[in-house]
Amino acid sequence: KLTVPDIRARKRRDGAKPVVCLTAYTVLTARLLDAHTDLLLVGDSLGMVLYGLDSTIAVTMDMMIAHGQAVMRGTKRSCVIVDMPFGSYQESPQIAFRNAARIMKEVGCAGVKIEGGVEMAETVKFLSERGIPVMGHVGLMPQSVNTAGGFKAQGRGDVEAQRIVVDAKAIADAGAFAIVVEGIMEPIARRITDEIDIPTIGIGGSPACDGQILVTEDMAGLFTDFKPRFVKRYMDLGSGLAEAARLYADEVRSGTFPGDEHCFGVVKKTPKHR
Ligand code: KIV
Ligand code: NA
Repeated sequence: KLTVPDIRARKRRDGAKPVVCLTAYTVLTARLLDAHTDLLLVGDSLGMVLYGLDSTIAVTMDMMIAHGQAVMRGTKRSCVIVDMPFGSYQESPQIAFRNAARIMKEVGCAGVKIEGGVEMAETVKFLSERGIPVMGHVGLMPQSVNTAGGFKAQGRGDVEAQRIVVDAKAIADAGAFAIVVEGIMEPIARRITDEIDIPTIGIGGSPACDGQILVTEDMAGLFTDFKPRFVKRYMDLGSGLAEAARLYADEVRSGTFPGDEHCFGVVKKTPKHR
């Protein structure tokens, strides 16, 4: 299994290959993705993708733990990281530690991810010095949707751009092992990647980032409520699943399914009585 130090060492400027990351919320997706990824993130985006919430704000510790456990059962190779949900870490380093430790104990994952910049640096340091590897997350931070007023690309102006660079550096200096850079202007993601010593994982970041991440249901075409610019759809599994449901419904309604081969104890071909 890939460890946190394995991921931490993946700086492309040192010749490393890009870190391939995807989200996973269930054992089924974890099993399908694991052979192809380096890191699986149990993202709190599950609140929107699986539960139909408008944002990630309402996601709970119990939800993250249940899905984290499912993903661990389906993973052999990838490093599994679990998002800390809104409200579980912002209050103090001590409360963050208590909740992160609960995730580590109950899930058995390799580390946790928290959103935030300078204001979270003390917490990142507190956790990582006490045995809990932390992945950072700067730029577009979905847990700040209410203060930001929506999900918008970050760092358009010079002042905002500089703030994101300062945030990323603070999290790296505090001891994070990697950092997600989401929804920021490409030159800023490139600059952060150049200026910090831990891998940057881009989503709406830059091809220069040390790794990339997408939400699996977005890239597979299963979640189609909206498509941010940074999502690339590699398949249309949503249409495939809907088509399977349509075929099944037709066959049930017409009496074609189930056939004798799907039934137990059918002794001989008899005319169907339906
Ligand atoms: O929750 C999530 O899926 C994430 C990734 C998009 C980075 O935080
Ligand atoms: Na998240």
